[in-house]
Amino acid sequence: MAIIAPSVLSADFSKLALEAEEVRAAGARWLHFDVMDGMFVPNISMGIPVLKSLRRATDMFLDVHLMIEKPLRYTRQFCQAGADLLCFHVESDTRENIADAIAMTKELGKKAGISLKPATAVEELLPFMETVDLALVMTVEPGFGGQKFMAGQLDKLRVLREHIDRLGLNCLLEVDGGIDPDTAPLALEAGADVLVAGSAVFGKTDRAAAIAALGVK
Ligand code: DX5
Ligand code: ZN
Repeated sequence: MAIIAPSVLSADFSKLALEAEEVRAAGARWLHFDVMDGMFVPNISMGIPVLKSLRRATDMFLDVHLMIEKPLRYTRQFCQAGADLLCFHVESDTRENIADAIAMTKELGKKAGISLKPATAVEELLPFMETVDLALVMTVEPGFGGQKFMAGQLDKLRVLREHIDRLGLNCLLEVDGGIDPDTAPLALEAGADVLVAGSAVFGKTDRAAAIAALGVK
């Protein structure tokens, strides 16, 4: 059964603890936490203090998506703030520094992931696949919730699914951007294990119905 990770980017930040509780009660085990610095992507979202507060408010698995330049600078702080997994963009620094960020995350007892923007070739992820716990395929241009799903990115999921299965890697495959009841089946068919959904969950008043409509838990 695939995992659903509601993205708190689309939640009401004035009552984040209640929002988390509502999706947990609806069956979600993960929360997806989008960090944006206004440099790597053209938007600013939230950071370390908000993550610390959310950590105190919930025992859900906190899946932290770092859309920031040179994430190695903040890796230790995000781990200490209570992330369960840190996901790094392959475009956000040199290959060596990204490898160091992944190694530091794991040394601190957390899981690490690697991601790519729609314009980046999937081959860029391959050198990291044996050291990460998760690979994230973006199906929108990162920066904003509520954008249209880019079906052309599904082939990247298929390539990574085949790679993970062929090498027997212990690596989850996640998809993020434009996931809704129509696109979730496409992502699952292409091999996704984890579906991130922001507006399709927090944009609806009945969160249980919204999660059920994605066909996963
Ligand atoms: C976009 C973020 C996504 C966003 C998804 O840069 O990485 O996690 O919250 O939002 P939806 O599901 O509305 O496309
Ligand atoms: Zn995200």
